[in-house]
Amino acid sequence: MTKKLYIETVGCQMNVLDSELVVASLRKNGYELTDNTRDADTILFNTCSVRQHAEDKIYSALGRLKNAKREAPHKIIGVLGCMAQKDQRLIFERAPYVDLIVGPGQLHQVPQLIAGIAAGGGPRMEVSLGRTEGARAEIERSHESFDPLRDPEMRPTPHQAYVRIMIGCDKFCTYCIVPSVRGPEQSRPPSQIVAEARQLAGEGCKEIVLLGQTVNSYRYQESDRRWRLSDLIYALDAIDGLERIKFVTNYPKDMTDDLLDAVGELPKCAKYLHVPAQSGSNRVLQRMKRGYTIEEYREMMDRIRARLPDAAVASDFIVGFCGETEDDFQLTCELVREQRFKNSFIFKYSERPGTRGADLYADDVPEEVKKRRNNELLAIQNEISEADNQPFLGRQVEVLVEGLSKAAEKHDDPAAQQVQLTGRTRCDRIVVFDGNRRQIGQVLPIAIVDANAHTLFGTVVTQHVGPELFTLKA
Ligand code: 5AD
Ligand code: SF4
Repeated sequence: MTKKLYIETVGCQMNVLDSELVVASLRKNGYELTDNTRDADTILFNTCSVRQHAEDKIYSALGRLKNAKREAPHKIIGVLGCMAQKDQRLIFERAPYVDLIVGPGQLHQVPQLIAGIAAGGGPRMEVSLGRTEGARAEIERSHESFDPLRDPEMRPTPHQAYVRIMIGCDKFCTYCIVPSVRGPEQSRPPSQIVAEARQLAGEGCKEIVLLGQTVNSYRYQESDRRWRLSDLIYALDAIDGLERIKFVTNYPKDMTDDLLDAVGELPKCAKYLHVPAQSGSNRVLQRMKRGYTIEEYREMMDRIRARLPDAAVASDFIVGFCGETEDDFQLTCELVREQRFKNSFIFKYSERPGTRGADLYADDVPEEVKKRRNNELLAIQNEISEADNQPFLGRQVEVLVEGLSKAAEKHDDPAAQQVQLTGRTRCDRIVVFDGNRRQIGQVLPIAIVDANAHTLFGTVVTQHVGPELFTLKA
């Protein structure tokens, strides 16, 4: 008999990929997905710890399940991912009806752990070693990358796929919990990555997005060859069937010229780079221990612009980090105005217990100030995004069609062939247009007719296929 699985995912693309792989492994074990917790035999939360808000959301979702578990004690409730690794037994204390806690390094065990609990084995917890709980090699081994063979029928989007190229992070920015919950930086062997990409391409996948916390820090020593990210994307670009390759997220210090040249030279490589600056002030960058000065970041941007004049660059910023003054914040605004990022992800600083930042500095910028700085920076970025989208009006762009637009998905009528579609340009701009379901997965020419800060709107350019016109010679 099939069992029903409800899964909720918060956080980054890495979590989206992890959830896809967990769902695939459970479907092999007789589960099918449901979109409500009432029907579910197993309820899983794949969690994020990067900000307090993401954790609060999960704890309140768990709180709402208390009665459901009392009424149906056979339901299995599990917490996976970063918050499982960070809070560990604390989750059992705060929500004693949770059955399962699994860190990001043990996801391969999920089906077997659930089976054990269903058989009456009681609650289980599997997590990795902390960053000081052993020798590096031992800690590395305790964080196992979860990259089982991909099953084409179990992928949610046939034309696109995330491919993990590394796990963990060794940068230890003082605000960030990732190095402790995702463990040491470890790159996957290039042969595995290329084989996975080849398999995906063979199954009709058009775009792969390479994932790593600091994806451009990728390094792999094979017996006679040292692989960098640039070497890897050269190998991937040669795979037949693939149309686009993206990689996120980049670390500014590792944005080397070999990589920029590869992005410029390789036709399949998206002309898009996400390289978070985090702040425009040296004082703040130093307290964040980002490892670069703002002059170095600017120098990197100059190299990007010189080598890749058409590339779009996106950034992340944290506002209200410990000790951030109004002057520091103004330096961030200046950087955004000057660099004209395609978009910026802006976050209010959220203190994370267990980070160096939490130990060293007071979280001393009041919440209202964080909020105001967040809104101000967002307004500056939005104005830039909107202005920089205007030159696209009247232009034709190449769009890889991803699927139904958000609006169309909400009231989708599967019988209707004409639908509103969405996709992205080669520089990662979102395009919305009317089309046909069959066009999903294709690369289409789209003429842009309208634009706001976040979206370009267009129409499909149809090739002339009607009867030829001949002029009669006099
Ligand atoms: N508070 C707020 N934002 C954070 N980020 C990482 N840690 C924190 C934190 N403690 C942001 C950074 C990073 C993005 C993924 O999340 O900007 O680039
Ligand atoms: Fe966190 Fe810094 Fe590593 Fe990014 S580079 S995951 S911000 S520690």
